Amino acid sequence: MSGKLRLGVNIDHVATVRNARGSAYPDPVRAAKIAEEAGADGITAHLREDRRHISDADIEGLMAVLTTPLNFEMAATDEMQKIALRHRPHAVCIVPEKREERTTEGGLEVAREENRLAHFIAPLREAGCRVSIFIAADARQIEAAHRIGAQVIELHTGAYCDFHAEGHFAERDAELKRLREMAAYGHSLGLEVHAGHGLTYETVQPVAAFPEVMELNIGHFIIGEAIFRGLAPAIREMRRLMDEARA
Ligand code: PXP
Repeated sequence: MSGKLRLGVNIDHVATVRNARGSAYPDPVRAAKIAEEAGADGITAHLREDRRHISDADIEGLMAVLTTPLNFEMAATDEMQKIALRHRPHAVCIVPEKREERTTEGGLEVAREENRLAHFIAPLREAGCRVSIFIAADARQIEAAHRIGAQVIELHTGAYCDFHAEGHFAERDAELKRLREMAAYGHSLGLEVHAGHGLTYETVQPVAAFPEVMELNIGHFIIGEAIFRGLAPAIREMRRLMDEARA
């Protein structure tokens, strides 16, 4: 187990800045290339139903130029399934999506939608995509993700990061314990375990230290930090912290 922890850099919010002005820049595809050069092991992009950040053209551009795997985040809708089947990215991460939310607030309710999701992901798997399911650290959801045939689970670290930011350290530590136990549980079922959402330089190390976690997907903090220190140095510092925690 263990091995090098992969860093997937999520470039959605480069597109957020671009779209704030309806301009052609900054270009998320250019950001993805810089991220690869700075040590990202993969690029993550979420094509939302409302196209608030990443666009269809961005996905085309990423597929054309990336030399590392694309982790394509999407809701479980027919439209997104068609797009994924056209591009056949390395990985598809199924996330819940609500129009009114600011970001992906919770994990997917796999247990409640098991049948539909099993049928939904089957063609993606047949097309050669690794299917990942974004879920809370909850045994019921992990078992359901396993039953529907997902190869990967991504554990939602948002609650852990929020508790940290709000200074609720007892709740933070309880959530971290849950994440650690559920990472081990998912791994014991044969699932590849990833984690992400809301991670920062302050919160990344305890999660990076879980030996069962193979990949972290990090976006908003890195893109924000890039304003101050540049994108490549912001990524390299995240990489350094991850490697330090893992060592
Ligand atoms: N993982 C998943 C499944 C996500 O939906 C997101 C946000 O798009 C992230 C990771 C990255 O979260 P953040 O931008 O807060 O680092």
